[in-house]
Amino acid sequence: MTAIDKAALESAQALDVKRVRADFPILDLEVNGKPLVFLDNAASSQMPQPVIDRIVRYQSAEHANIHRAVHYLSETATAEYEAARRKVQRFINAREEREVIYTSGTTDGINLVAHGYGRKFFGEGDEIILTTLEHHSNIVPWQMVAQEKGVKIRVVPINDRGELDLEAYRGLFTARTKFVGTTHVSNALGTINPVKDMIAFAHERGVPVLVDGAQAVPHLHVDVQDLDCDFYAFSGHKLCGPTGIGILYGKAPLLEKMQPFKGGGDMILSVTFEKTTYNTIPHKFEAGTPPIMPAIGLGAAVDYLSGVGMDRIAAHETDLLDYATQSVNRMGGVRIIGTAERKAAVLSFAVEGVHPHDVGTLLNEEGVAIRTGHHCAQPVMQRFKVPATCRASFAFYNTMEEVDALVAAIGKVQKVFG
Ligand SMILES: Cc1ncc(COP(=O)(O)O)c(C=O)c1O
Repeated sequence: MTAIDKAALESAQALDVKRVRADFPILDLEVNGKPLVFLDNAASSQMPQPVIDRIVRYQSAEHANIHRAVHYLSETATAEYEAARRKVQRFINAREEREVIYTSGTTDGINLVAHGYGRKFFGEGDEIILTTLEHHSNIVPWQMVAQEKGVKIRVVPINDRGELDLEAYRGLFTARTKFVGTTHVSNALGTINPVKDMIAFAHERGVPVLVDGAQAVPHLHVDVQDLDCDFYAFSGHKLCGPTGIGILYGKAPLLEKMQPFKGGGDMILSVTFEKTTYNTIPHKFEAGTPPIMPAIGLGAAVDYLSGVGMDRIAAHETDLLDYATQSVNRMGGVRIIGTAERKAAVLSFAVEGVHPHDVGTLLNEEGVAIRTGHHCAQPVMQRFKVPATCRASFAFYNTMEEVDALVAAIGKVQKVFG
């Protein structure tokens, strides 16, 4: 099995997928006269009715700008916005709510750290470590800072299965290493990285670590205190929540030392033309009117996922991935790219002799939604010497029958091009 945590999986009660699906109105759609089979969850997952209802209630009866007035609506919106922060805090087990910063998404959170931490603490000749598996969001912000500060980026290689070479990782550390950025789960291949061990190794050398959790939080039970990461970034829209909201978790002492990345309202205590004094964390990093409705929607999403149970979600998705992997392997003429021992929810593949874009287009005719392209992870594509892959990515509301539909649709593609 493509193991996540066998013991947890075995102890988890089976997920009632039929019941869960009833919460997602969009899954009843037909596309091209076929039932929608939505397998593009790594890009953005769908929203259940309780989250939609929560957003409607907020917009219908609670909306006003927050932190700025004493009237009923503003106080209600402020209380709900801050309550959602505490829900997220519990969901990822952050020590304190002030360690949970609202961002617009994973990309925004990583930029905040690259600019807020990197610009202040990196100097000429310093080094940072990233991995081949990174999404562009965990490469480009570091490159921008590295170019400005004269910092060298060193990259952890991967093997043919798409797993990090940990020996090489350990060998990349030098006296100049100032930071590590690593993805928890690869969006292009599904590889689950051993981030806890990587963090422990970095900490022995006094090096802080940022984890890109965009693809982990929707699929695994994430405990930031257990991981002991210094920063952890993720997005609401991959977590059954709205777009425009994300979370950056950071350890309070580090956040307190950092420069704010954006200036403006709410992040200040006082302003004169000579000097600005910044607000305390987390507000120091939340300039301007924040995404109030998306934050409250995210709070509802983590409530919903906690209700379903992250262990149950992980167990069902592991079953889906195992079944899909076996079914595709039996087909012939389809190569799975990314065969790591520990994987989550992603099946990247190439159909022999057919461009991924054509595969995606023909699958869409069968109602099957997958993603084709480089998945914003061009270094991974370069490593496997492919311009693009086809990527089916699963969520807990997907079924074995939908895996069958995917396999049947790939079979049709092979016939068309055969
Ligand atoms: C691993 C990973 N990191 C970062 C991102 C960027 O997320 P967002 O576009 O929500 O900022 C994604 C999105 O696909 C991702 O999969």
